[in-house]
Amino acid sequence: MTTLYEGKSKIVCAGEEPGTCIIRYKDTATAGDGAKKEELPGKGRLNAAISNKIYAYLAANGIKTHLIKVIDDVTILAKQAEIVPVEVIVRNVAAGSFSKKYGVPEGSALRNTVVEFSLKSDELHDPMINDSQITAIGAATAEELAELRAAALEINRLLTALFEKAGIRLVDFKLEFGRADGELLLCDEISPDSCRLWDMQTGDKMDKDRFRRDMGGVLEGYREVLSRLDA
Ligand code: TMP
Ligand code: ASP
Repeated sequence: MTTLYEGKSKIVCAGEEPGTCIIRYKDTATAGDGAKKEELPGKGRLNAAISNKIYAYLAANGIKTHLIKVIDDVTILAKQAEIVPVEVIVRNVAAGSFSKKYGVPEGSALRNTVVEFSLKSDELHDPMINDSQITAIGAATAEELAELRAAALEINRLLTALFEKAGIRLVDFKLEFGRADGELLLCDEISPDSCRLWDMQTGDKMDKDRFRRDMGGVLEGYREVLSRLDA
């Protein structure tokens, strides 16, 4: 198989059918744009299972995604899309870089949902970027940005409800989108690598912050998320 792209946590190969690709989840965990790196055996399978479940739920609720079908427990078949080089971050509760940058303690309630964009670039450490900067450099058009923002808010509404039923607070998350067949599709994983997920009762973290902050119990957290979504 021809490898099209190898990322930090996934490998993308060309699919048999033109316009498709095969994406395989790896067990590698990274933080700080790859500065911290570790193999966590089983992480790929957990993230694939969680993300596939979330994708099925979003698709059933009208969200257009790149997923065609699940091949095995670490592999999916997806539409090949031209990735929009803008990450969309949605925040319901203050945490992470938002807390640090604006001096708002982690866990603080927010008066409104925050939508942020960052430019997808490891080299530049994914700098935050605003609408006029995005359109100025041609990373996306104003029409695309409006669609990305609306899709991100709708996905937030759906995911907040899904996780709430599992006793999990969706604190924040990151989305990526791609262009295929003239439309924007949700791409990439939605997993504890890309979301902050806190136990609603105890506040315990069940996401990649356990790895980023050397808290231990990383895979235990991921396993708990999967088992609650399965319940
Ligand atoms: P942040 O608080 O570090 O900006 O992260 C916001 C959300 O985005 C959080 O749920 C983790 C996720 N995220 C990624 O998926 N990839 C990244 O490279 C970073 C920095 C954050
Ligand atoms: N995704 C980034 C990395 O893999 C950073 C992060 O998720 O914290 O290095």
